Amino acid sequence: MNKLTEISNEIRSNKKFCRLGEAYVISIIEEFLKKDKKLTRAFEKGTIKTRTYKEFLKDVKKFLHETYCVYQVREGDKKKQIYSLMKRTKNKERLLELHEEMLHLHSSSRERKKDYETIYRNIFSVCGEPKKIFDIGCGMNAFSLPFTGIRRLQYVGCDAVEQDVHLIDDYLKNVGKNLGFKGKGLLVNAFDKEFLVDISKVNSDICFVFKMLDVFDYGVKHHKKSEEILKKINSKFIVVSFPTKTISNKKMTKPRRKWFEVMCDRLKWSFNYFETSNECFYIVKK
Ligand SMILES: C[S@@+](CC[C@H](N)C(=O)[O-])C[C@H]1O[C@@H](n2cnc3c(N)ncnc32)[C@H](O)[C@@H]1O
Repeated sequence: MNKLTEISNEIRSNKKFCRLGEAYVISIIEEFLKKDKKLTRAFEKGTIKTRTYKEFLKDVKKFLHETYCVYQVREGDKKKQIYSLMKRTKNKERLLELHEEMLHLHSSSRERKKDYETIYRNIFSVCGEPKKIFDIGCGMNAFSLPFTGIRRLQYVGCDAVEQDVHLIDDYLKNVGKNLGFKGKGLLVNAFDKEFLVDISKVNSDICFVFKMLDVFDYGVKHHKKSEEILKKINSKFIVVSFPTKTISNKKMTKPRRKWFEVMCDRLKWSFNYFETSNECFYIVKK
């Protein structure tokens, strides 16, 4: 077993990280190693079990916690159970309830569970009804498609969580297909150099980037990465959202993101803006 796999196994042996794919964890370890030349040298020599190594491991875990764990709702095998019920349910009302239950299993979709219809109405009133949606860092959003009010919709959702991406892919090819949707789930890593190429290959009418810019800009005080990603998106409209509540659940006094508006003006992208009780949305026209 090589050292990267060994470190990845050590991280993934923790219940919190076990749903993350090995390749993804290894790529994040490599990303952190690039930032630390001293540790990379020690790593090559094989003397990694030092204090620096422990700190390094702590940093990688902190990153994975803040970009992945905080959004996961810890309910064991609930996703699998709900999905298997979905596949067997013929009753339309029950099927919709099961979609809501699935949205409940990711903190971001949980927070907007009751707002999806309003959000989609607002978005489509500006962009028109889309034929194809691309969703970057999709979480469980695929299960909100019945609330778009559109049938015959193509949806491509991408995320870094392997098991969720497989679930979404299966949903779109089976349950979703019966409801009029088609599409696929794509496994991506926003911190990988291939990511920009991967996303630029997907063309769509609307691209959702819900609550993702804080993930893209993790650990830095500028927004270069977010800008780079947004520029690469191959879609006429991009819908970007941000939370409007702080970590302590207080409503922000100024939820609008000034830096984002300044960036849009600079790039000559126009935008519309709306808010729900805990999220704000920019509908950007490139
Ligand atoms: C704040 S949540 C937003 C989820 C979804 N867009 C929503 O608003 O419902 C952040 C999402 O980013 C995903 N994520 C974390 N790291 C990622 C990475 N390196 N590449 C792609 N997606 C990532 C997480 O799995 C999670 O689903």
